[in-house]
Amino acid sequence: MRIELREVGHVYASGTALEVVALRGVSLSVEGGEVLAIVGGTGSGKSTLVQHLNLLLEPTSGKVLVDGVDARSLDRGDLRRSVGLVFQAPEAALFAPTVWEDVAFAPRRMGLSEGGVRERVGGVLGRLGIGHLAQRAPHSLSGGEKRRAAIAGVLAMGPDVLVLDEPTAGLDPATREELLGVIRALRDEGGTVVLVSHDLDEVAEVADRVCLLENGAVTSLGKPEEVFYAVSASPMAPATVRTAALLRDDHSGVGRPVSFGETLAALKTVLGA
Ligand SMILES: Nc1ncnc2c1ncn2[C@@H]1O[C@H](COP(=O)(O)OP(=O)(O)OP(=O)(O)O)[C@@H](O)[C@H]1O
Ligand SMILES: [Mg+2]
Repeated sequence: MRIELREVGHVYASGTALEVVALRGVSLSVEGGEVLAIVGGTGSGKSTLVQHLNLLLEPTSGKVLVDGVDARSLDRGDLRRSVGLVFQAPEAALFAPTVWEDVAFAPRRMGLSEGGVRERVGGVLGRLGIGHLAQRAPHSLSGGEKRRAAIAGVLAMGPDVLVLDEPTAGLDPATREELLGVIRALRDEGGTVVLVSHDLDEVAEVADRVCLLENGAVTSLGKPEEVFYAVSASPMAPATVRTAALLRDDHSGVGRPVSFGETLAALKTVLGA
């Protein structure tokens, strides 16, 4: 599945004293099989942007195309199932008496047999490492456990595109690493992931492409090395890129490493190690 935003603008509370222009002429595609990271400062429009991918928010100008078709002509229920969105801080949305029931909600509504539901729910709980929490009440879980349960609930719909709005915020490093592993595995299976993140180091580890938003507009879009080396002296670049950029002044052989592994390999080359 390919989603394309064409010149999308979004204005909140248009025409009132509280009007906010949140997106300005955003053109962007999400290609099937990629991990696309959306980065940018607080209030730059990231959450607003991703809610356009399944028309939870409608553009006030421009349009959204899904496989070339205007998304407004598609069934909203189908669209929200195939483009699964996990909200920023989704913990509040857990509602069923147990984690299992919560995650089973969508597969049941999709008409899966009871055996199919069991298989689906068991699979996603295992994938997110929370099988042991299946019978717990969502409100009794820790913040990070709730986050994973909320992601499981969306994955259980079997979406073509998984959209995660700051999924790792506030998670401990080991849990964060596990979640990045889930994202990589989904991509390796041909899935598509849109990841909103403030954590540039994690973006450096998993993204195939990066979109940088500033004040509601796309200011840079491309491969991680293209986007990050264009801003390598600023805090908008991951630590790996900032380090390598400094070394490049004296060592042209450093190249443009982005991930930790690539940066370490470049450092070893410089050190002759
Ligand atoms: N429901 C709303 N009504 C009015 N203005 C809103 C609404 N939601 C967001 N905004 C405004 O739109 C702009 C973009 O907000 P958005 O939540 O998309 O930013 P963000 O990049 O996700 O920020 P953060 O990194 O803090 O999550 C901000 O100025 C915000 O105040
Ligand atoms: Mg946000």
